[in-house]
Amino acid sequence: MRLVAAELVDSREILPRQWLQAYHAPALASGSRAGQFVHVRPGDYSGLILRRPFSFNTVDPQTGIVTIHFRTVGRGTGWFTHLRPGDTVDMLGPLGRPFEVDPRSRHLLLIAGGLGIAGVRMLADEAIRDGRQVVLLFGAASAAEVYPSNLLPDEVEYVVATDDGSLGYHGYVTDLVPEYEAWADQAFACGPSPMLAVLARQAAGRRERLGVAKLGRKRGGGKQDPLGSPAARRKAFLQVSMEQNMGCAVGACLGCVVMGVGGQPQRVCREGPVFAAEELDWEAGW
Ligand SMILES: Cc1cc2nc3c(=O)[nH]c(=O)nc-3n(C[C@H](O)[C@H](O)[C@H](O)COP(=O)(O)OP(=O)(O)OC[C@H]3O[C@@H](n4cnc5c(N)ncnc54)[C@H](O)[C@@H]3O)c2cc1C
Ligand code: FES
Repeated sequence: MRLVAAELVDSREILPRQWLQAYHAPALASGSRAGQFVHVRPGDYSGLILRRPFSFNTVDPQTGIVTIHFRTVGRGTGWFTHLRPGDTVDMLGPLGRPFEVDPRSRHLLLIAGGLGIAGVRMLADEAIRDGRQVVLLFGAASAAEVYPSNLLPDEVEYVVATDDGSLGYHGYVTDLVPEYEAWADQAFACGPSPMLAVLARQAAGRRERLGVAKLGRKRGGGKQDPLGSPAARRKAFLQVSMEQNMGCAVGACLGCVVMGVGGQPQRVCREGPVFAAEELDWEAGW
């Protein structure tokens, strides 16, 4: 974890109230992995005390550029939109645990609900760099909120669903998942909690529906990796990136807890934000 002064190099509104900002932060651009996040401090004159967490949207170790993609929902996110190129912010990161891709997975299904795209966007880059095929299912309320396809690598197969049918499939993005569940070796999702809960239920029944072997069954000869370990997450079909209101983002305040199976509280900032779907108690209603 490093604390860096990140210099804003570009800031633009890519969708109504959604901003893409690029910062020069070489110390964060190398070594950070998809699924991790930064904790950014609004400036001295903002009147805001707490840092705000944002997923790494993309990182480029060559140029040292890190991007974040956020929606303005309150004072903190509003404050960031007033920054101008040349301004610096104080960024702490990389924080949290990343997505874990099984080295044998060739086909990755990414599922994003709205701003959840920011949580999985970097994974598309990593997967393509590693020679994997990527399908991205993206859901939004309407065409006006659909993530622009020109911000994605050409290699990604991009499938859109809108609640009102104004673009792509008419309905929820989760409706599209069954079409891909035989193709996908693993799935990775970020979005509203109800969407993730539906995906978790779908993933739980997948093996029975398809009669497929679980990745990792041969290797390790039936040895059970501890729940929550990187090895167990690598073998999970579905990993989800969770968002909770955060205080410290380093595991101390317990402000970000979600409930794990067996009643084990899980800190989104430390044990997450990425979890294997089967680690969480989806009925707990956080
Ligand atoms: C690990 C992690 C990664 C995140 N990545 C992104 C990202 O890439 N892009 C993005 O737009 N947002 C992301 N968020 C959410 C983002 O941090 C909040 O939207 C932001 O902190 C709100 O700050 P604010 O001062 O503008 O709003 P506030 O005035 O603090 O709150 C305004 C509203 O936003 C809600 N809110 C506040 N914090 C969060 C939160 N952490 N998660 C969900 N809702 C919140 C509040 O409940 C309230 O309704 C992430 C959150 C986490 C925990
Ligand atoms: S935000 Fe403090 S423990 Fe997670």
